Amino acid sequence: MMRYSRIIGTGGYLPEKIVTNDDLSKTLDTSDEWIQTRTGIRQRHIAAPEQETSDLALIASQRALANAGLAASDIDLIVVATTTPDMVFPSTACILQDKLGIHNSGAAFDVQAVCSGFMFALATADRMVASGMAKNALVVGAETMTRILDWNDRGTCILFGDGAGALVLQASETPGILSTHLHSEGRQRHILNAPGQVRDGRIYGTPFIHMDGGAVFRFAVQVLAESTQEALAHNGLQPSDIDWLVPHQANARIMDATAKKLGVPPERVINTVAGQANTSAASIPLAMDHGVRHGCFKSGQLLALAAVGGGFAWGASLVRWG
Ligand code: UT7
Repeated sequence: MMRYSRIIGTGGYLPEKIVTNDDLSKTLDTSDEWIQTRTGIRQRHIAAPEQETSDLALIASQRALANAGLAASDIDLIVVATTTPDMVFPSTACILQDKLGIHNSGAAFDVQAVCSGFMFALATADRMVASGMAKNALVVGAETMTRILDWNDRGTCILFGDGAGALVLQASETPGILSTHLHSEGRQRHILNAPGQVRDGRIYGTPFIHMDGGAVFRFAVQVLAESTQEALAHNGLQPSDIDWLVPHQANARIMDATAKKLGVPPERVINTVAGQANTSAASIPLAMDHGVRHGCFKSGQLLALAAVGGGFAWGASLVRWG
C-alpha cells in the first residue's frame, strides 16, 4: 500500500549571468560591506532576457529527472511554485510540461505563495502522490524575481536573484515526506507585496516589490521557528532530532535567528544565500539540490524544510531522507 511520497531526485539551475554587490554599488548608493553584513548575500544570478521562468524550470527539471533516473514520460504530475510566471496564462507548469515533451499524461498547474510557494507545491504534490492520484511528480520552484524589482530601491533590489530548483517525488510504502504544515495570514499582505495589476491592457499600481524590511524580518523569524516546532510536535519529534535545517534562503540573519530559536547548530543549516541571494520559491529546492550534490544528507536523516513569504504565507515540512 503506497501511503507516502519520497524524494528520489533533485536538480537546480542558476542563470549564467552573475551580478555582485560591487557591481550594484556602481549604480546604487550601497556597498558590498552593507549588503553582506545585513543579509549574507554576496552575489545573485540574473536570467538572460530571452530566458523565461519555464526555461529555468526546464533545466532544473531535466537535472532532477536525470538524478532520479526517470524519463520525462514517467512524470504524471507537475506542480510549479512561481510568483513570476511566463505570462498571465497558461500556467508555467503547462508550458514546462510541453517543453519537457510530456503529452497526454496527468496534471500540470501552478501554485502561488511567493517565497513559501515551494512548501505549498510540495504539500499538494505529496498528498496527491500519497493518495494514488499520481505516481511520479515533478515539484518545481522557479522564479525570475529580478524582473519585478525596482533597481533604484536599495532596500529591495539587493535581496533577490533568479533560479529554479526541482524535486522528483515518487509513491512509496515508507515516508518520505512525514508531514507539511501550511499557514496564511492575509492581514499582513501590506508588509511585502507587488501590488500592480494587469487590467484593460494596462498595468495599474506598481508592478515592483514593495517591502517593510523590519516587519518582514520579525515575522519571518517567528513563523519559521513556530511552523518547524509544529511539524516536530505533530510527529512526536524534538528540535534535537533535526539533522538538517533547510530554510527559505531569504537572508543569513533570518536563517541564523531561526536556527538559534530551534537550537540547531549553524553547521546543520543549508545556507546558499551568499551565492544565490533570495530566489523566492526556488530557494528550498535549490538548497535541497545543494545539500544532495555536497553529500550532506545521509539515509535515515531528518530534514526540516521551512519557508515564509508574501501573503503572508508560511509552512514547514519534515522529510526522512533516503
Ligand atoms: O522572503 C522574504 C524577503 N524579505 C526579506 O528577507 C527581508 C527581511 N528584512 C531584512 O533582511 C532587512 O530588513 C533588510 C536587509 C532589508 C534591511 O536591513 P535593516 O537593518 O532592517 O535596515 P533598515 O531598513 O532599517 O535601514 C537602515 C538604513 C537606512 O538608512 P537610514 O534611514 O538609517 O539613513 C536605509 O536607507 O540602511 C539604509 N539602507 C541601505 N544602505 C545601504 C537600506 N538598504 C540599503 C542598502 N545599502 N542596500
